[in-house]
Amino acid sequence: MRVVSCNSFGPVTDLTIEDRPSTPVGPGQVRIAVTAAGVNFVDALFVQGLYQIKPPLPFVPGGEVAGTVAEVGEGVTTHAVGDRVFASTGLGGFATEVVVPARRAWHTPDTLTDAQAATFVQSYGTAWFALHHRARAQAGEWLLVLGAGGGVGLAAVDVGRAMGLHVIAGASSADKRAAAVAHGAEEVIDTIADDVKTRAKELSGGGVHLVYDPVGGALAEAGLRALRDDGQLLVIGFAGGEIPKLPANQILLRNRRVTGVDWGGWVGGHPAENEQLLADVLLAIAAGELHPVEPTAYRLDDVATALQHQIDRKVTGKTVLVP
Ligand SMILES: NC(=O)c1ccc[n+]([C@@H]2O[C@H](COP(=O)([O-])OP(=O)(O)OC[C@H]3O[C@@H](n4cnc5c(N)ncnc54)[C@H](OP(=O)(O)O)[C@@H]3O)[C@@H](O)[C@H]2O)c1
Repeated sequence: MRVVSCNSFGPVTDLTIEDRPSTPVGPGQVRIAVTAAGVNFVDALFVQGLYQIKPPLPFVPGGEVAGTVAEVGEGVTTHAVGDRVFASTGLGGFATEVVVPARRAWHTPDTLTDAQAATFVQSYGTAWFALHHRARAQAGEWLLVLGAGGGVGLAAVDVGRAMGLHVIAGASSADKRAAAVAHGAEEVIDTIADDVKTRAKELSGGGVHLVYDPVGGALAEAGLRALRDDGQLLVIGFAGGEIPKLPANQILLRNRRVTGVDWGGWVGGHPAENEQLLADVLLAIAAGELHPVEPTAYRLDDVATALQHQIDRKVTGKTVLVP
């Protein structure tokens, strides 16, 4: 099999494409012939050694894949060769094949392409966990989504609209704002040219109930200041590179709340609840309530370009590698 290998932490251009022997399929496992490997911002962090978890070297990056079952292990009755499936791999997804426990290989619904199936779990898992489980958002509330043209941002626009929220999308480019509007944002803010706090307050009639922030830095404080009484800032990530230090007086004033959202960490301790969450997301997709974006495709060999575009904030929506 061919894999993308990270042999030392550093620039994404140091990644190499290597041939490796196939991993044997054990009891209860399936081999997936990968047709699409989802790219996430976190993959770039892993490779550069900038993520809070540093995998032992060398490692194969890639947290989510889709493809077809190529082999089933002893005792597997739920899957057959040729079934379309998708799976979360943690690592190892940037490869022509992966071996996973059969119970973690979900059947891909006919309504999703392989590229969509390889890219919706992290983005929609995070957005759903944030808005349903952590924020307990209610229909009619105002939600400001920052980084709204990126992976987890665009998913939050979609989930928020499906919950009946009024969504304001904040993004740096016209392309990203247009994608957010196509996913149901009612209003947009240009996060480069506009005063985010003032504009969000104007658009929401005095302040938003919720801010979903995957960007961090100065935008996080602007979001905090845009909250109305009892509003919540949902801390999702720091794609901008700067972990914000928020003024506590702005949390105290107006009884605001700052809420951590660590979907990835929660999944590890709550596998059954996460399976239910994923089932809920799939039901909403099947009902036409959620609309995972069709990703931009790159060849597996072009992994460095794909990750560099992610780092350079050139990606609107999602990206996949096609082996
Ligand atoms: N909490 C969780 O459970 C969880 C789960 C998944 C991901 N995350 C985190 O969420 C963040 C976003 O992930 P993603 O996959 O949505 O990434 P993405 O698709 O690359 O989107 C990130 C967005 O952040 C904005 N941004 C601002 N400054 C940036 C910079 N210097 N570099 C890159 N982006 C910048 C960009 O929007 P503009 O150009 O519009 O500013 C970009 O579209 C990451 O930090 C990731 O680790 C957290």
